[in-house]
Amino acid sequence: MVPILFAFVILPVCAIAARQPFDVRKIIQAFREPHDDLTVLCAHRGLKWNGTAENSRDAYFRASEAGLECIETDIHLSADGQLPMIHDSGLGRTTDIGEQTGQAAYNPFTGQDYNPKVIDLNFTGPGGVEHLHLRDEQGRVRDEYVPSLPQMIESIHDSGMNVVLELDFKDQDAVEPAYWALKHLTNRAGVPANEWCIYKLQSVWYQTPEEFEALPWVQDAFNNGIQLAFVPVYDPAYEDDFDQLESLRKFAETNYTISAEIELRSVGGPIQNLLDETKNGNISIRTAGTFFAPGDFTYPNTDNVTFFDTANYSLPRDLRVNNSNFVFQDNKAPVLLDSLVGNASTDGHDYRSDFGWILEQKYNWIITDTADEWHVRLRSEGKRNVSWMIADGQDVVDGAALGWYRRRHARDLKGR
Ligand SMILES: *[C@@H]1O[C@H](CO)[C@@H](O)[C@H](O)[C@H]1NC(C)=O
Ligand SMILES: *[C@@H]1O[C@H](CO)[C@@H](O)[C@H](O)[C@H]1NC(C)=O
Ligand SMILES: *[C@@H]1O[C@H](CO)[C@@H](O)[C@H](O)[C@H]1NC(C)=O
Ligand SMILES: *[C@@H]1O[C@H](CO)[C@@H](O)[C@H](O)[C@H]1NC(C)=O
Ligand SMILES: *[C@@H]1O[C@H](CO)[C@@H](O)[C@H](O)[C@H]1NC(C)=O
Ligand SMILES: *[C@@H]1O[C@H](CO)[C@@H](O)[C@H](O)[C@H]1NC(C)=O
Ligand SMILES: *[C@@H]1O[C@H](CO)[C@@H](O)[C@H](O)[C@H]1NC(C)=O
Ligand SMILES: *[C@@H]1O[C@H](CO)[C@@H](O)[C@H](O)[C@H]1NC(C)=O
Ligand SMILES: *[C@@H]1O[C@H](CO)[C@@H](O)[C@H](O)[C@H]1NC(C)=O
Repeated sequence: MVPILFAFVILPVCAIAARQPFDVRKIIQAFREPHDDLTVLCAHRGLKWNGTAENSRDAYFRASEAGLECIETDIHLSADGQLPMIHDSGLGRTTDIGEQTGQAAYNPFTGQDYNPKVIDLNFTGPGGVEHLHLRDEQGRVRDEYVPSLPQMIESIHDSGMNVVLELDFKDQDAVEPAYWALKHLTNRAGVPANEWCIYKLQSVWYQTPEEFEALPWVQDAFNNGIQLAFVPVYDPAYEDDFDQLESLRKFAETNYTISAEIELRSVGGPIQNLLDETKNGNISIRTAGTFFAPGDFTYPNTDNVTFFDTANYSLPRDLRVNNSNFVFQDNKAPVLLDSLVGNASTDGHDYRSDFGWILEQKYNWIITDTADEWHVRLRSEGKRNVSWMIADGQDVVDGAALGWYRRRHARDLKGR
């Protein structure tokens, strides 16, 4: 099928008013300190859906305009050592590399066709990733290019967004270059990017504070008074690799570890003891976060419109099957999340697709694809007192948080 290039123009900043006057240092503080009346929300890859490509400037902008405080975002390393903001190891699903190179475009529903790896391509220069357009969740090619991490930080600076980022490194080798690339960048308020870009690193990479603190870039931060915000990610997948509880306890003694991501799959499953430890007051990490997994083609994708060719794949009539959701896989057809859970759950179900369950576990911050909806719901439950994160002397902007959004959405999808 012929890709359609949708014109896309950033609206002037004055046209919208729902952005909150957050202080990024207070947002970091909200990661450290639990509050009964606040669940911190991180928009997963920005606020995507409805024609906004994931990990795009637009998705960041929308998250900020919806009054959100945090964006979780993905970073890869390219062959020339740059930092493209891409989630998958391949470029097929989220860019137009197929069309640009004259190859059959990758189809995430079948896992077939052209899906070259980010690490095999340069970011800059001829054929570079920077020349690729982003695709939205329905497969339409947008008039927006793949950004790099420093370009994203500049965009945050220039548009005056008050958000923190959770950097999800898809490649361990991207971590150090990210630090150097961010070292002299700030947000508009002048706060160094390395203090509000949270280094959310797989715990298996640096299992102890000694290993982490020996890194040259961490030493550089210490020597220059840069207050790093570190979050180790603990996952049942590492169960056999090392003692995760011991690791958590050690990191808890450091002042740069602001929280822990604890990817529990079911109550009583592996790493339950880590989550308990953050709640029982025995260690100084007192908060934990996780990922809400609603699936990759869930609502608002429930209509059957997709620009990807579904010739060899039938979209399921019910997107939630056996209480589980479908997720994309690199070079394979989508599968139900539960089919991936293995022995990480006590009963074969991955409970992370149930937001109520996540709240019952008393998670303090949540990465979610539907942050806008969760903001509304949590507010009605008294769990979105964002005052904790508002800059001194400023007030919470009330009301029409999503109005601009809806107008924009209606216009974007016109004539589809
Ligand atoms: C997408 O559209 C749906 C339905 O029109 C709306 O409820 C939802 O809030 C929108 N989400 C985003 C992120 O724009
Ligand atoms: C990346 O750039 C370098 C330097 O310009 C060049 O030698 C190399 O061939 C490029 N690699 C790819 C995959 O284009
Ligand atoms: C941690 O403590 C060191 C030494 O007291 C200090 O220099 C640094 O700024 C602190 N870092 C954070 C993130 O508070
Ligand atoms: C509290 O944590 C320490 C290590 O930080 C550990 O040795 C001790 O067993 C823990 N106590 C309880 C009751 O979990
Ligand atoms: C779904 O597709 C059918 C035909 O393929 C079409 O008639 C119907 O209007 C579509 N529904 C939506 C909600 O787009
Ligand atoms: C569907 O399968 C047929 C036969 O294997 C193949 O020729 C065709 O390219 C496939 N279409 C897609 C969209 O994958
Ligand atoms: C849902 O569960 C039933 C019973 O275990 C099983 O037969 C069926 O294949 C499952 N559906 C999917 C899509 O996995
Ligand atoms: C869980 O499964 C993995 C591989 O499937 C295996 O390596 C590991 O030992 C299992 N863990 C437990 C606690 O059974
Ligand atoms: C919200 O939090 C602030 C502290 O930042 C507190 O002073 C205020 O009372 C809280 N609001 C409500 C409605 O509880």
